[in-house]
Amino acid sequence: PALFAPERRNSRGWDLAHGPHLARIEEARAAHRTTHVNAAPLIAGPVRAEPGRPRHSPSDPKDLVGWVQDASLRDVGTALAHARPWNIPETRCAEILRQAADLYEVHFGEIFALLAREAGKTLPDAVGELREAVDFLRYYASRIETLDAPARGIFVCISPWNFPLAIFTGQIAAALAAGNAVIAKPAEQTPLIAHLAVRLLHEAGVPPECLQLLPGDGQIGARLTSDPRVTGVAFTGSTETARLIQRAMAGTMAPGTPLIAETGGLNAMIVDSTALPEQAVRDVIASAFQSAGQRCSALRCLYVQEDIAPGFLEMLKGAMAELRVGDPWALSTDLGPLIDDEAHAAIAAYVAAARGQGRVIWEGAAPREGHFQAPVAIRVAGIEAIEREVFGPVLHVATFAGADLDRVIAAINATGYGLTFGLHSRIDDRVQHLADRLCVGNLYVNRNQIGAVVGSQPFGGEGLSGTGPKAGGPHYLPRFTERAAPEALS
Ligand code: SER
Repeated sequence: PALFAPERRNSRGWDLAHGPHLARIEEARAAHRTTHVNAAPLIAGPVRAEPGRPRHSPSDPKDLVGWVQDASLRDVGTALAHARPWNIPETRCAEILRQAADLYEVHFGEIFALLAREAGKTLPDAVGELREAVDFLRYYASRIETLDAPARGIFVCISPWNFPLAIFTGQIAAALAAGNAVIAKPAEQTPLIAHLAVRLLHEAGVPPECLQLLPGDGQIGARLTSDPRVTGVAFTGSTETARLIQRAMAGTMAPGTPLIAETGGLNAMIVDSTALPEQAVRDVIASAFQSAGQRCSALRCLYVQEDIAPGFLEMLKGAMAELRVGDPWALSTDLGPLIDDEAHAAIAAYVAAARGQGRVIWEGAAPREGHFQAPVAIRVAGIEAIEREVFGPVLHVATFAGADLDRVIAAINATGYGLTFGLHSRIDDRVQHLADRLCVGNLYVNRNQIGAVVGSQPFGGEGLSGTGPKAGGPHYLPRFTERAAPEALS
């Protein structure tokens, strides 16, 4: 079969520069601005959930978005006992996933509202996220017929808060497309959007025993990933949690049970002296600060060649000064909030320490109410000075001499992470030189390094950044089936 599915088209999305689209989004905003959403476990048996927990918006602590009843450990047992693989003809399965994609698009207003209010997504980010979710559904639907092996059984899908719809949907759609039963455990911070997504998938025709939702904290995930009835786990989140899951699985599940993990990154970009500075600055800004830096693909360490560094950094500061932090719904906003208090406190402390050491190159301003963090650029000697992934709008900046390029490459590889990398250069040989040496999943040349597009830019890393296969690419679905010697799928 064709590696890419030419008959499939990605979602056209919403054009924020198009008056009628904007008017419809404004209507949705008015309709969903103050509504409250209630979520509870969606399982195929009796529910014994915990009492409700209020969900407030990260951008406005007074905005009560809704309530979630987290699953109890008893609910986990019920879900596992009722889970049934999805035994359905391929064409029907594809139809239902496509129907779900259509329903997601119909419900764009509720979805945008929840992405803004529960997850703090700016409008452009919300538009991108809905498109990606829809694209995952249609892409995996289009690839069902390429599968030549049966489903594994029960897949547990554990997803992150930073793409509460797109990654949540992508994992589920892949596991369902391969015919598995899915038990989904969304991030603790974003259960309401997950609940809406599962309701739409059920409405499209996915049977309740084939897709169950267990909102809750790490205990629910720990219980699920140590049950011998589970035959596969898809996880996106921190490298640390992936290690815990791997250990739990090894202790209880059959050898060879797949863990498909997408984890963190310590992503670098090199801007050499042949780069077009205006273009490079624009792409640095998008890579480091879009989504308030809360993407695993985001740029964390920028290397600027020393002979252009003074002028380049002046331009970068100028561009940072233009960034607006605030209300995620406002079209003038560039950065929304951080996801919660804990994330905010950790990043604020990190920035304060750098400030104390006199390493802050430039720092913007942010509103005081809500979990807002201003964009910051911090000077470092090199990527080796960054101890961990800082998941927010914090850009580390280093300079390098042309003769030291290979040392920079070695330092980037030595972090052990390998997710995204960006290069701005007009030297073709240099592009090849870096591509041959850097151990990263996605390498972007003369553009930003975020926002991989389903079907044309499969996304995923290596080393500490994940197990592969890449999401949104042709090797992903087979990993959810009984086929698959892992080495054939790198
Ligand atoms: N897939 C996202 C991106 O490419 C990150 O998770 O930015």
